[in-house]
Amino acid sequence: MVSDQYRMHRLRSGDEWVLGTLAKGNARFGDGSEAEWQAPLGSDEASQFVSDPHTVCIVAIDMATNHIAGFIYGGVLSRRHTRLHHMCLYEVGVDLDHRQTGVGMLLMQAFAGEARKLGIDRGFVITNEANHAAVALYESYGALRGDGNDRLFGLSF
Ligand SMILES: CC(C)(COP(=O)(O)OP(=O)(O)OC[C@H]1O[C@@H](n2cnc3c(N)ncnc32)[C@H](O)[C@@H]1OP(=O)(O)O)[C@@H](O)C(=O)NCCC(=O)NCCS
Repeated sequence: MVSDQYRMHRLRSGDEWVLGTLAKGNARFGDGSEAEWQAPLGSDEASQFVSDPHTVCIVAIDMATNHIAGFIYGGVLSRRHTRLHHMCLYEVGVDLDHRQTGVGMLLMQAFAGEARKLGIDRGFVITNEANHAAVALYESYGALRGDGNDRLFGLSF
């Protein structure tokens, strides 16, 4: 069973180094358009990231090799209506060698488990229709497709 091969671990204080490992392996976790390497956060910011109770970052550890097979992260968003707290799933990435073996689904389920621990029962994720793997993962998870024509804009402040 795939769940026996991977251990899900939510990052916490002391796990700052993991962000460096994810940054180094950036291209292996991405959709092919990512830079080979992304500068990781500095140590203070990395500490803030892993110890923030409203940021959920989970890695899947391959028990056979102790390598990181994938990660998922997002954060709590306070909304003005419906319910106060929603989860925004920001990113999920599975290492090229571990794709289509169920790791993405395990990460989704682990993310859901952490959301429930926070008392949160709903959330959202934005992806591109052309990203068939991501769409397949979210649909297989049971996500409901939005019906709008949403467009993402980057903002500078
Ligand atoms: C999207 C991604 C995380 C999926 O991870 P994964 O571990 O391969 O997914 P799983 O093995 O758990 O598969 C989940 C479901 O999606 C389907 N699926 C996964 N990849 C697929 C693909 N390339 N084409 C079609 N279906 C696919 C699986 O068949 C499975 O469906 P099922 O439950 O009906 O059997 C992975 O492809 C990835 O890391 N892509 C690059 C990063 C990215 O684009 N992330 C999403 C946006 S942030």
